[in-house]
Amino acid sequence: MGLRLAQETSEDWWEVEALYDLCFAPGREALSSYRLRDGNDPVAGLSLVARDDGIVIGAIRYWPVCVGGAAALLLGPVAVHPTHQGEGLGALLIEESLARATGWDRVMLVGDEPYYGKFGFHRLADVEMPPPTNPERVLGRALSPGAWDGVTGQVTPA
Ligand SMILES: CC(C)(COP(=O)(O)OP(=O)(O)OC[C@H]1O[C@@H](n2cnc3c(N)ncnc32)[C@H](O)[C@@H]1OP(=O)(O)O)[C@@H](O)C(=O)NCCC(=O)NCCS
Repeated sequence: MGLRLAQETSEDWWEVEALYDLCFAPGREALSSYRLRDGNDPVAGLSLVARDDGIVIGAIRYWPVCVGGAAALLLGPVAVHPTHQGEGLGALLIEESLARATGWDRVMLVGDEPYYGKFGFHRLADVEMPPPTNPERVLGRALSPGAWDGVTGQVTPA
């Protein structure tokens, strides 16, 4: 059967949660980015699940947010099972999902610039995540030319 990439459905939810629990430190839900997700559903059609012979080995979710009144995608969490890291699956999940993001102009995340810089993410100097977020980890990528120009302010739930 091999690797299969599919849109996440409600039936995948707990398997994806288990993968995130495995890949992230305990207490991940205390992160401020989760406050922007509370009470919202992931963006349908963009959140993807990778299965290898039926087992969930990778997942990516997106959430709708507002930045100073402009709509943006919040990417995350993205995770790949430790036994499959370094095989390019993280890159595949990011690129494949963003290729489907028609109708969205901008995407942001909280993460490591050395990793996400490879996918065209840069520091968003004037975009404020709820505290306590390290501002150096607030990154964005324009999905249409110049889409982050002049977009500043606080990130709020959509
Ligand atoms: C980050 C993660 C999703 C990457 O998935 P992956 O399938 O291993 O990634 P890829 O195979 O596409 O890329 C691997 C490369 O990224 C590098 N990399 C991974 N995490 C990195 C990080 N935080 N900073 C810099 N580089 C990183 C690896 O060293 C590797 O480099 P190489 O290609 O030069 O060997 C995965 O490692 C993971 O689930 N980590 C734990 C959860 C996590 O931290 N998620 C991101 C939260 S913001």
